[in-house]
Parts: sequence; C-alpha cells; structure tokens
Amino acid sequence: MLRTTPEEITERVVASFETAPERLREIMGALVRHLHAFAADVALTPEEWSAAIASLTATGRITDERRQEFILWSDALGLSMFVDAIAHDLPVGATESTVLGPFFVPNSPLREYGAGIAARAGGDPAWVYGRVRSIDGQPIADAELDVWQNGDDRLYAVQSPDAPEEHLRGRFKTRADGTYAFLGVRPVPYQIPSDGPVGRMLAACGRHSWRPAHIHLIVRATGYRTLTTHVFDSTSEYLDSDAVFAVKPSLLRTFVARRPDDPETPAAVEGVWYSVENDLVLTPGEPDEPFEGDAIDQDTR
Ligand SMILES: [Fe+2]
Repeated sequence: MLRTTPEEITERVVASFETAPERLREIMGALVRHLHAFAADVALTPEEWSAAIASLTATGRITDERRQEFILWSDALGLSMFVDAIAHDLPVGATESTVLGPFFVPNSPLREYGAGIAARAGGDPAWVYGRVRSIDGQPIADAELDVWQNGDDRLYAVQSPDAPEEHLRGRFKTRADGTYAFLGVRPVPYQIPSDGPVGRMLAACGRHSWRPAHIHLIVRATGYRTLTTHVFDSTSEYLDSDAVFAVKPSLLRTFVARRPDDPETPAAVEGVWYSVENDLVLTPGEPDEPFEGDAIDQDTR
C-alpha cells in the first residue's frame, strides 16, 4: 500500500480551492501552503496545536464592541504594520502611516478649530497644531482630522466604563490655509490590554506590553489618500520597544513646555501646558472611503 505523505495532504487542500474566484484561490492556496510549511518547520505537536486552538477560542470569547483581541494579535505580531507598509508605499515627503490600533471609534463629534477634546480634567494640556498640505506644498482646506488619544490614567475612553463616550476624541476641519489645532492632553505610555491571550503570549515570551506616548490621527481629504498615523512624543519611554512595532522616526515630535503666563496660552488652560507642532503631508489619490462632508463640500464650493 502507498502511504500518504504530508506534502500530498497540502497539495490536496490547495487543489480544493481550484474553483474559487481568482483572488480567493490565491489567498487560500498561499495560506494553506504557509500554514502547513509553518507546522512542518517547527514540527508542531498535537498538544501545541490544541494550545493554539484554545488561544484562538479565548481570543473570540474576550472580543466584543469594546475589546478587539484579534487586532491586538495582529498588532503584537507586527502584521498590522507589515500590511500597512505594503499597502501605503507613500512617496518621499509624505507623512508616514502607522497602525490604526484597537481603540478607534468612528463618528467622533465634529469640533471647532482649537476646541478641547477632554470631557473631564486630568493630565497636562497639549495644544496640537499644524498644517495639512499636499506633497507639492499646497495647503489643503477642509481636510478632516479624526483624533483620539489616552488620558493620564493611561486609558482610552472605550476602555473606561465611567468615561464619557466622547472623551479624548474628536474630528476637526482644516481652515482655508490648511491649518488645524485642538487642545488635547499630553499622552502617556500605556500597556496594551494584557489580561487576555495576547498578554499571556507576551508574558510567556518575556516581552513587555508597553506602547510609547502618542496621539492617533486619521486625515481625510477630497482628492488625497487617507492617512492613518500617530504623533509620538519624542521623549517618551518605549520608543525603541513599542509592543506593536508602530514607531517610525519621522513621526516623532517635540512637546514644548509652555508657561502659564505665555501670551499664547489657550483660554481654557491654567498652569503648565505643552504645544506640539505637527504638519501632515498627504499624497494625491482617492480617499479610502467617502467621509462626512466630502460630497457636501464639493457641492457648495
Ligand atoms: Fe494608541
């Protein structure tokens, strides 16, 4: 009797996708080949296979509208950054992209130029400002910045049951000269959620779960590619060992300490505050998806 080899199993599975639509056939075929090659490489045991299934099951159980453990896996394994890097091969001069992360919540409130995003006190105020422009230097009016960040308790509003939903997030439009500004708080390093399967993997591997201090931004503008990025505090801890590998040196910015008697102190601010200048350079192209105000701006111009 002929014996069945592992290679024959792989070929049989790959062949089962022959009738699938082209792209799906390509993806499923490559997935099976790599998955089987991975199992062969490490000589995966049935016990290790069971542990992986248990971990995936726990990942599903802990995931809900407020907790996305699957994205956390992708982030902690560097897949999110890798996919972003191959999808956004942006030209030199354009602001670099980085991960979306698991804490983005769509439909943040639209706020006025310079408005605060903190719904409650805590942390050092940070005036974030700059200009959105095209790679050719032209300012971009009516671009939309969608910003979110953590507070001095290290948490995003979605992680904190008692925080108002709109705490530390908002959308802002650029003015005619491409400028934008908002009053956030100086971000602090935080740990990615470590009470689930991803945290257990990090602990087992001797990795820490910290991310350096940053503010998230998505920038959308008609006629430009959507940019998902961060502003990193250039003095933060963990810039060299971000748990999700999202740091790019070009995204580091200086948070400048300002005195309360500084003539530029924003109206709502008392005590020491910080300012951080962050210009954003977009690449001409199509936005990922239409955004609120996009069509309206076109019609009324
Ligand atoms: Fe974050």
